[in-house]
Amino acid sequence: MNILDATEDDLPAILEIYNEAVANTTAIWNEASVDFQNRKEWFRERKQLGYPVLVAQREDKKTVGFATFGDWRAWDGYRYTVEHSLYVQADHRGRGVGNLLLPALIDRAKDLKKHVMIAGIEASNQASIRLHRRHGFEQMGHMREVGAKFKQWLDLIFMQLMLDERPYPSAPS
Ligand SMILES: CC(C)(COP(=O)(O)OP(=O)(O)OC[C@H]1O[C@@H](n2cnc3c(N)ncnc32)[C@H](O)[C@@H]1OP(=O)(O)O)[C@@H](O)C(=O)NCCC(=O)NCCS
Repeated sequence: MNILDATEDDLPAILEIYNEAVANTTAIWNEASVDFQNRKEWFRERKQLGYPVLVAQREDKKTVGFATFGDWRAWDGYRYTVEHSLYVQADHRGRGVGNLLLPALIDRAKDLKKHVMIAGIEASNQASIRLHRRHGFEQMGHMREVGAKFKQWLDLIFMQLMLDERPYPSAPS
C-alpha cells in the first residue's frame, strides 16, 4: 500500500468511497450523495488552499482510501488548527489502511506549521476512536445528540492532537 498525494485521476474512487460512507455510515452527517463535479470543486479548493488530499493506493493502483484536512473554523484566530477526515473503502476497513493514512496526514499538518489537529467523530465509531488514540489524539469533549441521521440522534466526540510545543504562535503567514 502506498500513501500518495491525490490527483484528479483519484476523484472517481474518492467519490465512490465518500458516497458509500454517506449512504451507509454515520461517519458523514449528510444523507444526500454528491456528484463528480462536487468532488472536483472540493479537490481544487483544497489544492488552492495548499492543503493535502492523500490517497491510499494498492500496488495495482486501486485507490482504497483518502484523507484530508481543512481549516477548523473560519476566523483568523483558528489558523493554526485544522480538522481532518479520512475514509477507507468498505472492503478494505480493518486492514491497517487508516493506520497508514493518519500518520502521513499528521506529518503534512506539521509541515504546514499547524499546531493542533481535530477529529470530530460520531461517538459509536470505535474504529475511528481507536485509530486516533493510537496516534496520540486525546478526547476533549463529548457533545450529546447534536446530530441526526438514520432516524436517531448522534453524539459527537472531539479528539485533539497537539502537533508541536511552540510556546507562542508565530507571525501569520
Ligand atoms: C475509521 C476508519 C478510517 C479506520 O480505518 P481502518 O483502515 O478501518 O482502520 P485500521 O485497520 O488501520 O485500524 C485502526 C485501529 O482501529 C481498530 N479497528 C479497526 N476496525 C475496528 C472496528 N470495527 N472496531 C474496533 N476497532 C477497530 C484497529 O484494531 C486499529 O487499532 P490498533 O492499531 O490499536 O490495533 C475506517 O474504518 C473507515 O473509513 N470507516 C468509515 C468512515 C469513517 O468512520 N471515517 C472516520 C470518520 S471520523
